[in-house]
Amino acid sequence: MSDWSLAIDFGTCFTTAAVRAEQSGASGTSGTSAMSGTSGTSGTSGTESGGAAGGAAAVEIENSRYLPSLVCLGDDGRLLTGRAAVQLAAQRPERAEHHPKRALLRQPAVLLDDREVDTLDLVAAVLARVAAEARARCGGTDPVRTVLTHPADWSPADLDRLVEAAGRAGLDAPELLPEPVAAARFHAAIATAGDGAPIAVYDLGGGTVDTAVLRREGDGFRAVAVAGDPDFGGRDLDQALFELLRDRALDLDPAPWQRLQADRTSAGAHQRSQLSRELTLAKESLSSTGTVYLAVPGYPEPFVVQGGEYRAAVTPALTASVGLLERTVARAGLTPAELGAVVLCGAASRTPPVADLVAARFGRIPELAPDPKAAVALGALTDPPAAPPPDGAAAGEAGSGAADPDRWAVAHYPDEVDPWFDYD
Ligand SMILES: Nc1ncnc2c1ncn2[C@@H]1O[C@H](COP(=O)(O)OP(=O)(O)OP(=O)(O)O)[C@@H](O)[C@H]1O
Ligand SMILES: [Mg+2]
Repeated sequence: MSDWSLAIDFGTCFTTAAVRAEQSGASGTSGTSAMSGTSGTSGTSGTESGGAAGGAAAVEIENSRYLPSLVCLGDDGRLLTGRAAVQLAAQRPERAEHHPKRALLRQPAVLLDDREVDTLDLVAAVLARVAAEARARCGGTDPVRTVLTHPADWSPADLDRLVEAAGRAGLDAPELLPEPVAAARFHAAIATAGDGAPIAVYDLGGGTVDTAVLRREGDGFRAVAVAGDPDFGGRDLDQALFELLRDRALDLDPAPWQRLQADRTSAGAHQRSQLSRELTLAKESLSSTGTVYLAVPGYPEPFVVQGGEYRAAVTPALTASVGLLERTVARAGLTPAELGAVVLCGAASRTPPVADLVAARFGRIPELAPDPKAAVALGALTDPPAAPPPDGAAAGEAGSGAADPDRWAVAHYPDEVDPWFDYD
């Protein structure tokens, strides 16, 4: 097997990885074709990056590009990841840490059951799982180069902790790359317009929203303004749907809802955690369908939630998050017309009002990769674009947003929903 590179986008909720074959002894330069390997629970899927994005391919673990970042303490004291962790966490929630990325920044250790676990070990467990799956796809050798992406506003101390966790996972001397820079590289590799102009990135993940403006510098990107809200992300959209459902249930008959919330038995905890998973699935479905049905224990019929009412509920918070992007662009000293593109990334940026709000505020159609979460890991292995023209003529030129339509898509409403809903 030839040399290969690994990139890991360690997220609050999900972790995504990409691999790229390198010409022997030429790590960090243009990649070659995607990995070979045997079938099994892991794999690679390179269709999204294609040749244009430098041959990087997303790593599938347990048939998914999205490995939950959740870690759970197993019966034997080992830290479990992936499906085994998700399954055990549903039954034994006191043994699970759902958001190791957040814990890494906030606390040295967490209590799982009655055991104190170093947060570095939690992060290392996720990184080690990803690295092992990638190695299995790449001939069992170690990567010649590892890139870890991270939020643009992490401090040097935060980054040191990430690197230390990587070391515990056997990933020594990783390169670090800000998440929006990786997203911009992915965009630049496949875009057909706006060459050389600054790019704005809006990343709505599970736990945070991050915004950044990147200028082309030499043959790469540099973040010139960044801002984020560490307390707003896709999980808050779950909460909005939960509140809609709760109001509906209380209107019909408060007793079953109150019983469910008050039930302290493990059966009650299990029913609540199942409802929470179904809420997440329903929320994600509302990005592509107009109506969802949600069954709640104790009620004879499932409740119906329409996409319009969900969007009305989440629009104020999403409007605020797009306002953050506007302020970041202003702080970079730019107007929306001077941007080459507004790139949406993070899986929650598929929520339809996001693209509409950005379009309304920026006067341009934002660009959303088919898999906006994987764009970060893929972009981390994408070579920086060639240097802009020496006279800088294109640097302030507005892009047309006319990227290859097969690769970028604008979030759209299902047919039955009114796309001109008033968000203000
Ligand atoms: N189709 C979809 N529509 C809307 N939301 C979605 C969709 N698919 C996934 N999500 C939501 O996206 C969120 C996860 O996003 P992502 O995986 O990009 O976050 P992350 O990288 O783990 O977090 P962060 O970037 O904040 O560290 C979850 O809240 C999930 O429910
Ligand atoms: Mg993310």
